[in-house]
Amino acid sequence: MKIGILTGGGDCPGLNAVIRAIVRNSIAHGWECIGIENGWKGLLDFDTFPLDINSVSGILQKGGTILGTSRTNPYKFDNGEKQVIENSKKIGIDALIAIGGEDTLGVANKLAKTGFKVVGVPKTIDNDLSGTDYTFGFDTAVNIAMDAIDRIHTTAESHHRAMIIEVMGRHAGWIAMHAGIAGGADLILIPEKEIRLDEVINVMNTRGKRGRTFSIIVVAEGAQLSKADFEDSKLITQDEKLDAFGHIRLGGIANLLAHIIEEKTGVETRATILGHIQRGGSPTAFDRVLGSRFGVYAVEMVMAGKFGNMAALRGTEIIDIPIEEAVSTLKTVKDDFSDVARVFFR
Ligand code: F6P
Repeated sequence: MKIGILTGGGDCPGLNAVIRAIVRNSIAHGWECIGIENGWKGLLDFDTFPLDINSVSGILQKGGTILGTSRTNPYKFDNGEKQVIENSKKIGIDALIAIGGEDTLGVANKLAKTGFKVVGVPKTIDNDLSGTDYTFGFDTAVNIAMDAIDRIHTTAESHHRAMIIEVMGRHAGWIAMHAGIAGGADLILIPEKEIRLDEVINVMNTRGKRGRTFSIIVVAEGAQLSKADFEDSKLITQDEKLDAFGHIRLGGIANLLAHIIEEKTGVETRATILGHIQRGGSPTAFDRVLGSRFGVYAVEMVMAGKFGNMAALRGTEIIDIPIEEAVSTLKTVKDDFSDVARVFFR
C-alpha cells in the first residue's frame, strides 16, 4: 500500500506533526508514503517525493509544512478532477490523506464522490471547520495572539491609549474570542456580530469612569462595522484579488476602527495587525499532540477503508465523520460563548 500525503491551503503549526505521524504509522503497517508537494498542485504537476522515516525526523517542532502548500483548486482547471485521479494512479498512490481546511477538504469531498480513495485531516488556525471541536494550529495561533495582547497591555496602560489588536479569522471569531478572553480584552469584535460604535464607546466610557485610562480591543479581520453606523460598511480588504477558492485577502479593520475611535472619543488610539505571525513558528504541545493523534488515526482510517471521511476531535476522543459534514457549514461562535466574553466588557 502506498499512501500519498498532501497539505493544502494556508499553512499552520502542527502540519509536520501530522505528516510525521502518518509516515511513522504507515511504516509500522509495512506501507510506503509519498509526499505530494504544494497541495493539489503537486498532483497536477507530478511533484512528489518518497517519505521515509528519516525524512520526517526532527520535524515535529517545526512550523510550516515540509511538503509545501498552495491554494490550488483542481476544479478551476479543465479536466482537473480527471487529471488528479489519473496522475495519482500513475504515481502509484493507493490512498490519499489530504490535510487541510474547508477548501482542501471540499476538493477531497468531491473527489471521494467519484470513488477516489481519500481521507481528510482537519487543519486551520481559524478553527471554523464543523464536526471537530478543534483543528490543530488554532491553539498555537491563540497563544501567539494572547502573548501579543499581554505585551500591548503594558504599553496601552503607560500611554493611556486605546489599542486595537487585529487577529485572523475570516468568517469566525474563534481566535479573537479565545485570545481576547485569555488576554483580558475589554472588548472583542468578531465576524459573527456587526461592530456597533455605541458599544465600543460605551465600554471605553465605563472604563474611564472607574479610572481605567486605557482599553484593549481585539478585532477579527472579518468583523464589519454595522450598517446602522456606516451605510456602506463592507469587509476591509488588502486588495480586490480573489484566490482560486473565491476568497479575498482581508486586513485593515483595526486601522479603520482606530481612526474612527480617535475621531469620536478624542482618546489616542493605535492599531496592531498580527497577520501571519499567528501562523508561523513552532506548534504548542496541544497542537503537536492533536496533530500526532490525527495523523495516526488517519492511517487507521485508510486501513479500515473509511474513505470520504475525516478525523475529528470530539471531547477527548478522535472519531471519524463524513468530510461532507465538516465542509457543508462553517463552525461559528455562538451566543453562549460571546455572553461569557461580554461579562468582561466594562
Ligand atoms: O484560512 C486561514 C487564514 O489564516 C485566515 O485566517 C486568513 O484570512 C487567511 O488564511 C490568509 O490567507 P493567506 O495566507 O493566503 O494570505
